[in-house]
Amino acid sequence: MAESGLSKTPADMTFAARNRTFDLHESLGRDWHGDRAFQTAFFNALSFSFPSGEKFFVDSVKHYLPRIDDAKLKRDAAVFVQQEYTHRREHQRYNQALAAARGFDAEKLEALFQNQIKRINKEPPIVRLAATVVLEHVTAMFAAGSMRYHRWMEGADAAMADLWQWHAVEETEHKSVAFDVFLAVGGKRKLLRRVMRIVRVRFPYHVFITIFRMRRMEGKPALSLSFWREGYRFLFGRSGIIREVAADFRLFYRDDFHPWLINNRDQLQETIMRLGPEPELHANSSS
Ligand SMILES: [Fe+2]
Ligand SMILES: [Fe+2]
Repeated sequence: MAESGLSKTPADMTFAARNRTFDLHESLGRDWHGDRAFQTAFFNALSFSFPSGEKFFVDSVKHYLPRIDDAKLKRDAAVFVQQEYTHRREHQRYNQALAAARGFDAEKLEALFQNQIKRINKEPPIVRLAATVVLEHVTAMFAAGSMRYHRWMEGADAAMADLWQWHAVEETEHKSVAFDVFLAVGGKRKLLRRVMRIVRVRFPYHVFITIFRMRRMEGKPALSLSFWREGYRFLFGRSGIIREVAADFRLFYRDDFHPWLINNRDQLQETIMRLGPEPELHANSSS
């Protein structure tokens, strides 16, 4: 893989933030993922983690930017910041529209993740950056899965599929930025593994709590057998998404791990083509 200096994003890959916006009002009032209640709830729960999570990623990386003098890594980091801010904006709109459509208390649902971020923010900057690297790997791994297995989005409402695929594309493009910054400032792989051992338990736990709370807020049985059976199949079944990302997950523990060990540039390109050209937002939109 050709690369330059401290940035291990492939050298011939340039990427930019897309200033996209999505009108999801029509979609969010129903089980937009092919009428499947669990799959819809699963993606909706992830959305509640993004506003505080993506701000945290940006802050953790920005803290170290003055120490980075590699031009490509600096440029990639600037795009990373723009991309994450745009994701944050769109997921805030998503969460507000979802809450209005289904009667959820968005603030309460987001607070669960905000409180986790508050806890991590008490840690030293290098631990915060390690947590960002870990969560960026988790995100990139699911992004890769969604581009590799089209089935993950089969039957989903078109606008919703577009939003998730757009997010997957940009998570893939910037997947090594936090990691490269972490190594450039002397971060140790041992710390990454330690943080991953915590995140791999806590993050899914909070996603499940969010799903549970959303069910209750809607007045639906939180312990419905058919709902959780669908969830088990979707996550852990023979073609469950957890099984399908397991190999990518394990790569993180390798001594030579780098996010671009998962070289999915073909699927990235294919997804960008499928998404089509960026719609014109504003007359002067430049990003
Ligand atoms: Fe993001
Ligand atoms: Fe990201």
